Amino acid sequence: MTDRHQEIQNSYKQLGNMASLYDGIITRSTVIGKIMDNVIWGLDERLAARWVNEALVPISEDFKGSLLEVPVGTGVLTMPLYKSLPEARITCLDYSADMMKAAEKRAEVLGINNVKFVQGDVGCLPFDDSSFDIVLSLNGFHAFPDKKAAFSETYRVLKPGGIFCGCFYIKDEFRRTDWFVKHMYVPKGFFTAPFESQESLRRRLEGMYSQVSVHAVNAEGIFCCIK
Ligand SMILES: C[S@@+](CC[C@H](N)C(=O)[O-])C[C@H]1O[C@@H](n2cnc3c(N)ncnc32)[C@H](O)[C@@H]1O
Repeated sequence: MTDRHQEIQNSYKQLGNMASLYDGIITRSTVIGKIMDNVIWGLDERLAARWVNEALVPISEDFKGSLLEVPVGTGVLTMPLYKSLPEARITCLDYSADMMKAAEKRAEVLGINNVKFVQGDVGCLPFDDSSFDIVLSLNGFHAFPDKKAAFSETYRVLKPGGIFCGCFYIKDEFRRTDWFVKHMYVPKGFFTAPFESQESLRRRLEGMYSQVSVHAVNAEGIFCCIK
């Protein structure tokens, strides 16, 4: 494991221990979470709901295929969705056992039994080529240390015709977020440069996939494309 990988794992280990703080921010369910969401990301209730919904739109309500989510984190955004997809075969992967522990607990409480949890590195996925109908990645690519490997591995494990979708931080859309990323998230080890802009992400995905769509909700870049 490289020093950079180790550093990220340590950062998210601490966060995993504070999973409820993380969940509070991502779902705006705590006072501190709401303040951080407003101040850092410039999001209000409506915009916050918008980016989550739009990132998950490509997953149809009656989806019955195989889906890989990487990174699952605490599963706060997706376990409720998986509860509504009982016939899908879902695999969730994350680097941090501590973050994933919260996701496993959440699945257990919700009585979900079609989700498998795997600890691993997105840069070296332990799956065969063309294994999944959908690869979903929420808020991961701004954290991954080796983005080239992450793009290539998520592509490799997706079936031809499969959907790659999700969201992550993109630069140059919302200056306040750019400032916090540079001065807080990068030094703390939560985010790792280099970051995509909306344009660079579109170009990258168009070089690999078809039917590419990319748009932004403040600094959240939301994407969907077909292999
Ligand atoms: C900001 S969290 C996002 C979690 C979740 N998808 C969400 O939106 O709430 C980022 C996650 O990326 C994971 N991560 C960072 N580098 C990784 C890697 N190389 N492979 C797999 N997961 C990684 C961290 O452990 C952390 O749980």
